Amino acid sequence: MKIVVIGGSGLIGSKIVKKLRDHGHEAVPASPDSGVNTLTGEGLAEALEEASVVVDVSNSPSFEDAAVLTFFQTSTGNLLNAEAAAGVGHHVALSVVGTERLLESGYFRAKISQEKLIEGSSIPYSIVRATQFFEFVNRLADFATDGNTVRLAPALIQPMAADDVATAVGRVCVGSPVNGIVEVAGPQKFRLDELIRLDLRERHDPREVITDPRARYSGAELNERTLVPGDDASLAETRFENWLSRSTAQQQSTPSGKEPRLSGLARKSFGG
Ligand SMILES: NC(=O)c1ccc[n+]([C@@H]2O[C@H](COP(=O)([O-])OP(=O)(O)OC[C@H]3O[C@@H](n4cnc5c(N)ncnc54)[C@H](OP(=O)(O)O)[C@@H]3O)[C@@H](O)[C@H]2O)c1
Repeated sequence: MKIVVIGGSGLIGSKIVKKLRDHGHEAVPASPDSGVNTLTGEGLAEALEEASVVVDVSNSPSFEDAAVLTFFQTSTGNLLNAEAAAGVGHHVALSVVGTERLLESGYFRAKISQEKLIEGSSIPYSIVRATQFFEFVNRLADFATDGNTVRLAPALIQPMAADDVATAVGRVCVGSPVNGIVEVAGPQKFRLDELIRLDLRERHDPREVITDPRARYSGAELNERTLVPGDDASLAETRFENWLSRSTAQQQSTPSGKEPRLSGLARKSFGG
């Protein structure tokens, strides 16, 4: 079965390509890197020839409100039109748990418009909403940092490993379309401020976390349950503390002390 992975060079996309190939599928990564641009339509028709499934794990290069909205609206529209022309039978997209509760944020307004376009199209679909990746946790601290302090709300958060996200999305790709939303999350709930304290302590990072119920997340105010999934979510296995000790050991063994590949979301500014 040919499965085209839009954003196949990214953090999640590259893991999905590998996992699908390991299971004997023809997984084709597609992104500007390989001459396929969903924003302009370049290379799309050729990439989708004979494809049964398209999975979209792309992300906008800019998180500025108008740019991110244009990215998800235009690229999703182009992709769905090309899929209809190519006779693709299943569109899978990765979104974020709590998207509909975070609409004060330009990023999440863009993600909800992506979801609405998919729901309104003629292509059978599955939307996988995942919680925050473990790989993104340290960057959440950076976005909330002012001087030596990090101000965060004590909202619940249930993060998961990028590897587990890719496994979950890969499984959906080889299954039947659900024509709805499925949620995936990590096995543990934390308070956001506590999670960042754990992360910073393990990394010997001296920044002080200040608990502030009014502190914003990507420009949006959080309540206790904004970021956590419903009761039907599938829970992944990797525990944060195990991932964190592996990740810090790996960081110490790389010459620059940096992680080898950061999520695009992690590399960009995340708004207020
Ligand atoms: N971070 C989190 O905690 C989190 C949680 C839940 C869901 N998500 C969702 O997960 C998804 C993937 O995130 P990620 O961190 O894996 O992304 P990433 O590492 O930033 O990768 C982004 C990918 O998008 C591709 N791309 C950019 N512009 C494109 C274009 N015009 N046409 C086609 N492809 C394009 C990039 O290709 P090039 O390399 O060629 O530029 C790259 O392969 C996002 O949609 C995000 O909303 C994130």
